[in-house]
Amino acid sequence: MSRRKLIAGNWKMNGSLAANQSLVQELLAGIGQPACDVVVCPPMAYLDQVRQLLAGSPVIALGAQNVSQHDNGAFTGDVSASMLQDVGVRYAIVGHSERRQHQAETDVHVAIKAQRALAAGITPIVCVGETLREREEGMTEFIVQRQLAAVIHLGGQGIRDIVVAYEPVWAIGTGKTATPEQAQAVHAVLRAQLRAASDDAAARVRILYGGSMNAGNAAELLAQPDIDGGLIGGAALKAPDFLKIVAAAG
Ligand code: 13P
Repeated sequence: MSRRKLIAGNWKMNGSLAANQSLVQELLAGIGQPACDVVVCPPMAYLDQVRQLLAGSPVIALGAQNVSQHDNGAFTGDVSASMLQDVGVRYAIVGHSERRQHQAETDVHVAIKAQRALAAGITPIVCVGETLREREEGMTEFIVQRQLAAVIHLGGQGIRDIVVAYEPVWAIGTGKTATPEQAQAVHAVLRAQLRAASDDAAARVRILYGGSMNAGNAAELLAQPDIDGGLIGGAALKAPDFLKIVAAAG
């Protein structure tokens, strides 16, 4: 089964009304009819602005960078999956390493967040990845399998509807990309883990690579058999670069 590639832009905590407007306008003007799915994930404060700018674009979907692990209620500062769904969000990044590191998100939190998203009809983009130290200690497989296992364990049949993103922490924002071979090796491990849970999930679930993916290295990474797209940080803030990555996924 061939999987349609997905290119996701994670804007992180960047942007402003003015900057978002020009970025989205440039993306819409240049994107044409891509051969892959495309999603942009602005900060929460700008979701409605970007939804309006996208104006129901059939080509670029709206994503969030996080979702609460709680249902609606007394959780000050949180944003629930049903609220995201209400404002037109179709994807939500969960378990990004920056949140695991700075917000102390655990594998269990991440698994619950993925469940909340699925229950609201939102596709969770579940991030996994090892630190440099973990890689040097030969722990890469153990770490990514442990992180994905929590989501598989809670997810049941639902896991066929998730997206996984392998983001080696040492490659994020550093300009140091995993080589296509290094990335493919981890993606193959994750694919095998999905297969052990369900053949259907292994066939359907897209596994994205993230970490210093850019216009220059995207094609080579995306040519690997188990790399089904990219989760792009810095290069997603520059329309020409993001559009080149989208074109490389065609
Ligand atoms: P960079 O592309 O800036 O390395 O960020 C990757 C990332 O963390 C996307 O979620």
